[in-house]
Amino acid sequence: MSLQTVFLTLLVCFQISSFLSPHPNSAKKSGCFKINNCKCIMKDGSGVINLNAMGDAEGFLGHLKPVSAENMPVGAEILLSFSPCQPFSQPEDLTGADCTNVAACLIVRLNSYISRYITYGRHDGNEFHYNDTLKMLSVSYFVHAGQPLTVVHYHCNPNQSTSLIRDQKLRTGEPLQIWVESHCACPNACAMGDLGLGTIFLIILSLSAAAYFILGSCALRPFQSSSGVQISPEHSVWCMICYLCTESRPARRHYTETAH
Ligand SMILES: *[C@@H]1O[C@H](CO)[C@@H](O)[C@H](O)[C@H]1NC(C)=O
Ligand SMILES: *[C@@H]1O[C@H](CO)[C@@H](O)[C@H](O)[C@H]1NC(C)=O
Repeated sequence: MSLQTVFLTLLVCFQISSFLSPHPNSAKKSGCFKINNCKCIMKDGSGVINLNAMGDAEGFLGHLKPVSAENMPVGAEILLSFSPCQPFSQPEDLTGADCTNVAACLIVRLNSYISRYITYGRHDGNEFHYNDTLKMLSVSYFVHAGQPLTVVHYHCNPNQSTSLIRDQKLRTGEPLQIWVESHCACPNACAMGDLGLGTIFLIILSLSAAAYFILGSCALRPFQSSSGVQISPEHSVWCMICYLCTESRPARRHYTETAH
């Protein structure tokens, strides 16, 4: 209690105010810090990029999309399924299939028969890189640690109301690359829908509660009489701040000293 508590309280207040401040001294910082497999937060404070809103109702950004590759045998066909955020399995009716809980799956068909399902990246352990000049978030999806199998470049395009795959490239010895145009790749463009009204309400509620206690405990203090010292709880954390305020006033301190 006492001085340590006051310091802790002030520290927390300082942290909150520096978090809410739009121009901290780290304005030069660039890049996007990964929060979870689907989200990252801009280091310059401009907001959150949320991949969750890019997929369709089932989470897919591309579903059985034909992909061209070099040295394809005659009659062969490669299809790509990709989901930015929600893991999926293909084929859905088969358990223990090659693509189970994946981010990207390549289906190689030969003469219209489905021959192989190849896992081409998972959400777990994905890596985020943001390029400020290109306004592009590149996310690498791995199957094993080391070389990513799929790298998706999400380009921030405010004009693009629906997310779409602009291009993809499949070369031997290189990761599969996918270029996506989406307004959701812009900071804070699609972050709110996922946050939920409940969370916003809780944040507002706790902020008002904090303001109520701080202002209330400070404002009530001057109205106390000599018999009303117990009105303000002595052991309360918030009251410690008030002691700092009151002790800086010599007349007040003199009064409390004579009262005891
Ligand atoms: C962003 O992309 C440009 C153009 O490709 C490149 O020159 C630059 O080095 C990239 N910046 C970062 C931080 O990767
Ligand atoms: C969006 O549209 C505006 C006006 O049509 C255009 O000037 C701008 O270059 C477009 N932005 C992108 C990223 O395509």
